[in-house]
Amino acid sequence: MSRTSSYTVDPDRLQGVVGEPLFAAVAAEAAKQNIPAFAIGGYVRDRLIGRPCKDIDFVVEGDGIAFAEGVSQRLGAGHVNVFKNFGTAMFMFGDWQVEFVGARKESYSRDSRKPAVEPGTIKDDQERRDFTINALAISLNAGSLGALVDPFGGILDLDRGILRTPLDPDITFSDDPLRMLRAVRFATQLNFVIDPPTFDAIKRNAGRLEIISAERIHTELNKIIETRKPSKGFILLRDTLLLQEFFPEFLELAGAEEKFGIGHKDNFYHTLQVLDNVCEHSDDLWLRWAAILHDIAKPKTKRFEPGHGWTFHGHEDKGARMVPTIFRRLKLPLDEKMRFVQNLVALHLRPIALTKETVTDSAVRRLLFDAGDDIDALMILCRADITSKNEKKKERYLQNYDVVIQKLREVEAKDRVRNFQPPITGEDIMRAFGIPPCKLIGDIKTVIKDAILDGKIQNDRTQAWQLMLDTGRELGTEPLVGMEKAQ
Ligand code: CTP
Repeated sequence: MSRTSSYTVDPDRLQGVVGEPLFAAVAAEAAKQNIPAFAIGGYVRDRLIGRPCKDIDFVVEGDGIAFAEGVSQRLGAGHVNVFKNFGTAMFMFGDWQVEFVGARKESYSRDSRKPAVEPGTIKDDQERRDFTINALAISLNAGSLGALVDPFGGILDLDRGILRTPLDPDITFSDDPLRMLRAVRFATQLNFVIDPPTFDAIKRNAGRLEIISAERIHTELNKIIETRKPSKGFILLRDTLLLQEFFPEFLELAGAEEKFGIGHKDNFYHTLQVLDNVCEHSDDLWLRWAAILHDIAKPKTKRFEPGHGWTFHGHEDKGARMVPTIFRRLKLPLDEKMRFVQNLVALHLRPIALTKETVTDSAVRRLLFDAGDDIDALMILCRADITSKNEKKKERYLQNYDVVIQKLREVEAKDRVRNFQPPITGEDIMRAFGIPPCKLIGDIKTVIKDAILDGKIQNDRTQAWQLMLDTGRELGTEPLVGMEKAQ
């Protein structure tokens, strides 16, 4: 099999490990306690491929907690946090997060991720891990100091870019179904392929994700979304049948229907293209989520209008309303991050309307007002949304957006509506008319806001005060004496 990995595996990277203070301390403690000790897991994998990693796990064939105390003392490291239930202990050493655990034989029950644990050897521990590339260990024991311990061919898999389970994949995944998502996550992060038998087992076991909490699922999903090219991950999620378990709305985007010879684009692939495009310009996870969800309501709003073709009227509003449902189910935050995603989904068609030559300042002001601080992210999303294969068209659309961005800049410099603060408050209105809180206050504020956005008055207190008085009078309320001038 040819290499697919973007990384070069170099066993020489393990050279010198045992001379480093942390490893030397572990080796010395292993000798003193006469207990075999190993560095294991993600750290070993990442060191071999030259990827930075600040978490390091050690396994000892004995009591991990007592061992951790010994190593911490040798190093003069910080306080050791003990997790008795898991038999693990952790301390910080500089910016390293160092964790110790006793080697275990584990068996899991079918409806829980919580393993029943009994002491075991390093090999028992390795075979209970998720993938061969994550089961690699470095010996810190006299006689084999610094040697790679690799009973499952993990280094070959690492070199060839393959994700494979150490045991029968059905056992590995039923031990912990989250690992199926981890397979997709590592395949996306490292640009690896999932070994066919492992892949087939994921398809067979996808339904077992049901015992995994939404938090764990979204943690892995977000790691996929934070990669350089998340489309690879989503295609794998679809092909492994995992996606339908937790995000069926995304799957519904797939397919391109045709009627009377008129088709529409496949919105699954379109969305992935938009997502990859956004990733080239921003690392912001929530902007990436906005890309994922920008067209999510297209299947629900799709119509074929004779003489017109396919339409998706209102998909931006319906899509914005679907965001909380999806966020709630995946236990993603329901705070300003979600509102940012909603705002972008709701507004993603608006800049297109501003590409026309004849566009008024008023329309530009309204978009600035509605988008507020999200305007720059919105423009990244809109540019990413151009996925035409026709390079000339693409170039032209992008140039149109350059013009929109220029207009946005000019109007913002002039009118400062991006973070619009009303020049007249509800308090002012109550004082001027001597009225208690009531509907009239909201009505007057709306008239003033619209007048500013429409350019009828400037964003200035004196003009807004005058409009407040006029509007109040029109609506049948006289200002109090002495309130004619802005104060
Ligand atoms: N592991 C496992 N099954 C899991 C989670 C973790 O077998 N569901 C094992 C793997 O050997 C993994 C190690 O525990 O390498 C540490 O897990 P974690 O820190 O979650 O992952 P890393 O491999 O270190 O990768 P990352 O830091 O990118 O999450």
